[in-house]
Amino acid sequence: MIFAANFKMHHTRAGTAEYLKELDTLLAQAEFPFKTLVFPPATALQPSTDWITVGAQNAYPAEQGAYTGEIGLSQLEEFGIDTILIGHSERRNILGESQEFLAEKFAFYQERGFQIVYCVGEPLEVRQQGDEAVAEHLWEQFVGIDLDYERLIVAYEPVWAIGTGRAAKVEEIASTHAELRRRIARPILYGGSVKPTNIREIAAIADVDGVLVGSASLEVRSFFAMMEAVAPPQV
Ligand code: PGA
Repeated sequence: MIFAANFKMHHTRAGTAEYLKELDTLLAQAEFPFKTLVFPPATALQPSTDWITVGAQNAYPAEQGAYTGEIGLSQLEEFGIDTILIGHSERRNILGESQEFLAEKFAFYQERGFQIVYCVGEPLEVRQQGDEAVAEHLWEQFVGIDLDYERLIVAYEPVWAIGTGRAAKVEEIASTHAELRRRIARPILYGGSVKPTNIREIAAIADVDGVLVGSASLEVRSFFAMMEAVAPPQV
């Protein structure tokens, strides 16, 4: 099971360092059989810890260059970062990243051997049209993406469930993950209002290999509580 925390534009450099230290200590004690990823804002990037892989929420598909406001491969390498989030709906919809550009980013970081958490998700109006429309929408978001890449992790995040407190229903998650599983052998995460109160039912769904958590990951105790809730009993 994979637990990924997406801080978005939350936490400072100091706050992130404190968070990672506390979480790392908790994870060292707990020894959960989970993979833990944390995506802080770019200003708060730091090397991964013993128990936590630190990844970038975004980076430009270039080593360095004239791309005002962006960071690229050399800025990530300074911290030993080799994990990146690509295709989040906020970058697609608010920052206007096209499928073509996302595919370019994906190819660039794939070529450099990065672990890539690639996000897809449908808006509410598509969900309301039913499973077939959802499937069609999601597969369009994979155009130009190498589904066989061995360091690929897919995250299914329905746009209407992100930050709304209203996660998708178990049946919706189950049917969508089953659809994605037809062509994706790599881990598939669910994201969208995952929290301590619904983690158990979500983690129990077939083909859910982990979760990508925003709001409920911002406090260490809340993120850790989700892991505790699904951790196998100690022997
Ligand atoms: P949320 O965000 O957990 O706050 O819904 C999830 C995400 O956008 O990755």
